[in-house]
Amino acid sequence: MDFALDDELTLLQDTSRRFADEEIIPVAAEYDRSGEFPRSVIKKAWDLGLVSTCVPEEYGGVNLSVLGACVVSEEIARGCSGFATSMMCNDLALSPILVGGNEAQKEEWLGLCAKEFKLGSFCLSEPGAGSDVAGLQLHAVKEGDDYILNGTKAWITNGGEADFYTVFATLDRASRHKGICAFVVPRDADGLEPGKKEDKLGQRASDTRVIHFDGVRVPSSQRLGEEGEGFRIAMQTLDRTRPSIGSVAIGIAERALQECLGYARERQAFGAPIAEFQAVQFMLADMAKDIEASRLLTLQCSWMIDQGIPASKQSSMAKCFSTDAAMKATVDAVQIFGGNGYTREYPVEKLMRDAKLMQIYEGTNQIQRVVIARELLSR
Ligand code: CAA
Repeated sequence: MDFALDDELTLLQDTSRRFADEEIIPVAAEYDRSGEFPRSVIKKAWDLGLVSTCVPEEYGGVNLSVLGACVVSEEIARGCSGFATSMMCNDLALSPILVGGNEAQKEEWLGLCAKEFKLGSFCLSEPGAGSDVAGLQLHAVKEGDDYILNGTKAWITNGGEADFYTVFATLDRASRHKGICAFVVPRDADGLEPGKKEDKLGQRASDTRVIHFDGVRVPSSQRLGEEGEGFRIAMQTLDRTRPSIGSVAIGIAERALQECLGYARERQAFGAPIAEFQAVQFMLADMAKDIEASRLLTLQCSWMIDQGIPASKQSSMAKCFSTDAAMKATVDAVQIFGGNGYTREYPVEKLMRDAKLMQIYEGTNQIQRVVIARELLSR
């Protein structure tokens, strides 16, 4: 068992770390305040090969492993998880094409994202179907060789910024998961309209929207896989991408720990730095041990996926454990900073707001526990 990153991944980690330090940390608070989308910064990350990382070499991409994507995500999220979410969303949007696309679709969409700076969105959730994917309502009706899509998607990352959307729709609502199809829809398709931008608690640099589909015509050449395979494509995508969510959470928790170590050494109480008090030390120690455990779980899981070993349970464990750990670490970070921590003058309140989303998106942590328990009980 070798826990060291190889030379290539170490270089990638250094590049991502430098990018976070130089390009993200100096502007993160401003983007958090304004809620603007940091397009120019994300373009710079794409120039460095840090966006659309899952595209294989044969389509001109950097062909990063799932483990490599985790290394990048952690470092970027240490800078700002809103940026990390926006960047990683491209891999989330492209993964259904990797998982279920044919050669022509891969050439077209994966090739496009390797060649040009393009953003994608993964359109699964709906106003009435977040956790219950099989209950989604966006309707696809076959008309000749096309499908006509009608309905609404919700909480769509990169929603107003994307050049293309991977969209899950149902041919027959009563068939639940068996009726779902996946499509790639370009932004300029008639009837596709991004709606209201959400005014979020955290990760405010990421663009989250409702997307309306009003009679959107999609040729069957843009359907991924066979009719009815959409649910499987969505689940296999999430199995691949959930480890990176764990890594984003680790980046947030690591940043909280670094901020706390600096502050606890400086801040005086009862005539001594607060770092000398066990009450503070225990919180620091818990953060550090939870970060280590999260990292081990996440890297092991991504390694399994890269080896082709089924890892639904581990993916859910990594996502759930790491994001719960980040939530606890950031709440404790605000506690260590005391009154200062509750103000925008200091970075920890942002980390706490950002961490909350991690327990919700790409499947709530309650859904992750459902996946884990089902696998345990089905043995
Ligand atoms: N891989 C392959 N097949 C799978 C699978 C997997 N991981 N999981 C389930 N399946 C198969 C099952 O074997 C079953 O197959 P059969 O038809 O042969 O029986 C079928 O799919 C249906 O499975 P279930 O009975 O388990 O389905 P379910 O309706 O009970 O739901 C669920 C399962 C795990 C709860 C699922 O609905 C789920 O993951 N929900 C969470 C959704 C989610 O994560 N949303 C995130 C949106 S994306 C986002 O947030 C991103 C963003 O923008 C930042």
